[in-house]
Amino acid sequence: MPGRRPPRPADGGSAGRTGRPARGERTARAQQPTRDGRPARPGQAGRTGAPRQEARGRRPADRPRRPAASTVELTFLPGLRDVVAAEVAALLPAAHGLRDVPGRTDAVELHLPGPLAPVATLRTPVAAWVVVHLDVPRPKSFASPEHLQRIVDAAYASLRVAGSSSFRFEAAGSDSAAFARLADLIHEATGLRHAPDDGDLVVRVRRGTGRTGRAGTTDPGWDVLVRVGPRPLSARTWRVVDYPGAANATIAAAMSRLGGIVPTDRVVNLMCGSGTLLVERLLAGPAAAGVGVDTSPDALDAARQNLDAAGLRRAPAPALLAADATDPAALAAALAGPLDGHGADLLLADPPWGTRHGSHAASPALHAGLLRAAHAVAAPGARLVVLTHEVRVMERVVADAADLWAAREPVRVFAKGHHPRIWVLDRR
Ligand SMILES: C[S@@+](CC[C@H](N)C(=O)[O-])C[C@H]1O[C@@H](n2cnc3c(N)ncnc32)[C@H](O)[C@@H]1O
Repeated sequence: MPGRRPPRPADGGSAGRTGRPARGERTARAQQPTRDGRPARPGQAGRTGAPRQEARGRRPADRPRRPAASTVELTFLPGLRDVVAAEVAALLPAAHGLRDVPGRTDAVELHLPGPLAPVATLRTPVAAWVVVHLDVPRPKSFASPEHLQRIVDAAYASLRVAGSSSFRFEAAGSDSAAFARLADLIHEATGLRHAPDDGDLVVRVRRGTGRTGRAGTTDPGWDVLVRVGPRPLSARTWRVVDYPGAANATIAAAMSRLGGIVPTDRVVNLMCGSGTLLVERLLAGPAAAGVGVDTSPDALDAARQNLDAAGLRRAPAPALLAADATDPAALAAALAGPLDGHGADLLLADPPWGTRHGSHAASPALHAGLLRAAHAVAAPGARLVVLTHEVRVMERVVADAADLWAAREPVRVFAKGHHPRIWVLDRR
């Protein structure tokens, strides 16, 4: 029986993360915004007033300003760049100037007018960061009032999305005197506690990327990135069960985007395990129906708990069925009721790949059976989206099933040393 997952700081694993409220989520409730719309500082809920004036006469951060626009960096699993860009286009229509961060395969940058809150609705990136570029030669200069003000503004922009009570640096030399001084100043300006090992709000410092240096120099300056929210975007509070082999949630979200988010779709998650693909699809937008299918009672129980935690078990509640997803007749019989005699429009699956479930030897028959059974229950125009590590096996069965499904170019994803691919197949 799958166990309750202990709290973990981030969605770093193949699965998402704890379903317990993250510390940031708890502190967010304690830190109601002040009357002028700024987040209250820890221990000052409900109070208004400008950030504290520094004891030694310096005025490091005046009233936090709401920048008219922010530069936002989105990090993602390599391979998902175009999916992330498509999600940005769909959910952040005001964003503009999206470009790759030079030298990186896991980050794009964009400009976003107005508040940052819409960034938190993205499901395919790993994390979002407010970027402050400082044209200075060394971090020591961050402490000057005009630079510090910009860092503090970025911290407040993040805090307006979700509260934090502490912060930490991710930077080479973060234990230096310059960073100790900067930590003091940020604390004085925001009230956030500096917790070098486990602070919620992450402040990343790196050499400038791809921008021109200061006038007359080749010095790239520095980027200070403040993470939006106390947890990465990839952290999923709905994941309350630690199911072996559970899919990475941002990959699951990408699969839904690749298959298309269509409100009239009847969605079926074959071999659903703990339901990651189903949950991510249903959270991404409405659907006419949602069904999860697995042979394992433990899997169905895990999916039920995750759907509950995601708030997706209210009517019309997704159905969870025990059935063999490689047997066309059995699958059609199981789905007839929940789909009201209709075919499925979007089918999602990540079949076992032989380490935690199934075996490599059984993989060809399992993948071939999946494509046949999915076709048997697919409506005209249906899409089947499959995530698998069995790349050679899948190439062969997709070729063999060419009369059933037309394959789009697979998307290769890099996740924790694995390189699975996502196939989108269109029903013929
Ligand atoms: C890789 S896991 C799916 C993980 C799932 N996406 C999640 O996030 O938890 C594969 C699942 O396929 C199920 N499975 C294996 N063979 C099956 C079959 N013939 N029909 C239905 N489910 C099957 C296993 O019980 C397992 O839960």
